[in-house]
Amino acid sequence: MSSRESTRPNTVVILAAGQGTRMKTGWAKVMAPMCGRPLIAWVVDQALALNPARVLVVVGFRGDEVAAAVTKLDASGRVQCVRQEPQLGTGHALQVCLPALGADPGPTVVLYGDMPLLTPASLTRLCEAREQSGAALLTCQASNPRGFGRIVRDAGGQFARIVEEKDASPDIRAISEVNLGVYAFPGRDLVRLLPTLSNKNAQKEYYLTEVVELLVREARSVQTLCIEDEDEAIGVNTLQHLSQARAALQERILEGHMAAGVFIEDPATTYIDHGVSIGARTRILPCTVVRSGAVIGSDCEIGPFTHVRPGTVLEEGAELGNFVETKNARVGGHSKAKHLSYLGDVTIGRKVNIGAGTIFANYDGKHKHHCQVDDGSFVGSGSVLVAPVHVGQGATTGAGAIVKRNSSIPPGETWVGVPARPLHKRTEPRPDSSEQAPPKG
Ligand code: UD1
Ligand code: CA
Repeated sequence: MSSRESTRPNTVVILAAGQGTRMKTGWAKVMAPMCGRPLIAWVVDQALALNPARVLVVVGFRGDEVAAAVTKLDASGRVQCVRQEPQLGTGHALQVCLPALGADPGPTVVLYGDMPLLTPASLTRLCEAREQSGAALLTCQASNPRGFGRIVRDAGGQFARIVEEKDASPDIRAISEVNLGVYAFPGRDLVRLLPTLSNKNAQKEYYLTEVVELLVREARSVQTLCIEDEDEAIGVNTLQHLSQARAALQERILEGHMAAGVFIEDPATTYIDHGVSIGARTRILPCTVVRSGAVIGSDCEIGPFTHVRPGTVLEEGAELGNFVETKNARVGGHSKAKHLSYLGDVTIGRKVNIGAGTIFANYDGKHKHHCQVDDGSFVGSGSVLVAPVHVGQGATTGAGAIVKRNSSIPPGETWVGVPARPLHKRTEPRPDSSEQAPPKG
């Protein structure tokens, strides 16, 4: 058996049933938005990265919503939800898993659904730290221990127990080493001890932390692993914590893109969600927002002040400039929309110029419609294309043209005016025409 195989947990349990009253939002806390996906998605990723045989997610408050989100994330069929109703604490959350856990769930890792920044590396180290018949937990020296359970050690420095802040004396509150709420247990002992938990504490809850204390009392080994990077310890209890966690995750996402050769001029004002792919040598200029699912090729330029929404695909060398918003938009190679435009529900070919202020009016108040703009065409400044519209290859719209719905501009033609109509018939060109010839596709 490889060492990786021997430390691999059989079961991971994620606690995600709490309401998150400290958020004051009414949402299920684990559904809070976090870089383009719900908070819980990051934790399910952590669990799956350990490659366990199965993952149990405890859901309760707005449980249907959470269960639906969790199910959507899992293609492996290893993730299953367990209901906790009512929610009587983190220990109770595991008690309701007892039927699913069975007599021996094997090595079991417990994660809290509000800790999105833990890395697979730390979780793997935790599993390795656990000795054969003992438990292990992650701790951190917190510069601000706000609300965390404190790690209490005996005179010899050995781990003794965890004391919740609400139950803590001033002496214990002064301890800066905190419990991250991440544990690796021998499954058989976890299952044996869970029914013995009490709720005699300030919150009248069943605390999972008591299980570790009970193991110490049985003289079992409980290893603590203190992680260095405090960012990993950000737990989301309030909206302020949510913003801190988001910023830290954002930094990681941007670092990943930069490492892959994406130039990001100002990470502090750049927002790129999870699940965005960006090719090398693309330049992202300040104050740009790129939402989940966007696919951006290499050698593109986006920004400053650009909003790239879901369904956007930019092919190699495409450019979006300031105050341009895209949604369900494919922009072909080397095409440009540099200023003040809305590209919604549109397929744009290669080497197309979208003039300043162009709007694809995709919504008629009831339905969305699609536009297509073929290769080499030139959409003049201030054009409004009322979808559906087809602009043929190498065609032109004049500045300020309003192209009516269901129009199809033939290849090479120029349409101008309100409503837009052909400037002249291509078949009968005026020999003395001073009008600009349509560009060659
Ligand atoms: C918990 C720990 C604390 C630790 C901190 C780390 C306990 C008793 N305390 O405190 O030592 O420092 O996490 O982040 O475990 N949940 C349920 N069902 C419940 C209650 C909670 O599923 O009945 C879930 C919540 O949705 C949440 C997680 O468990 O994802 C932790 O609950 P929370 O109330 O945030 O615990 P803390 O007070 O932060
Ligand atoms: Ca918490």
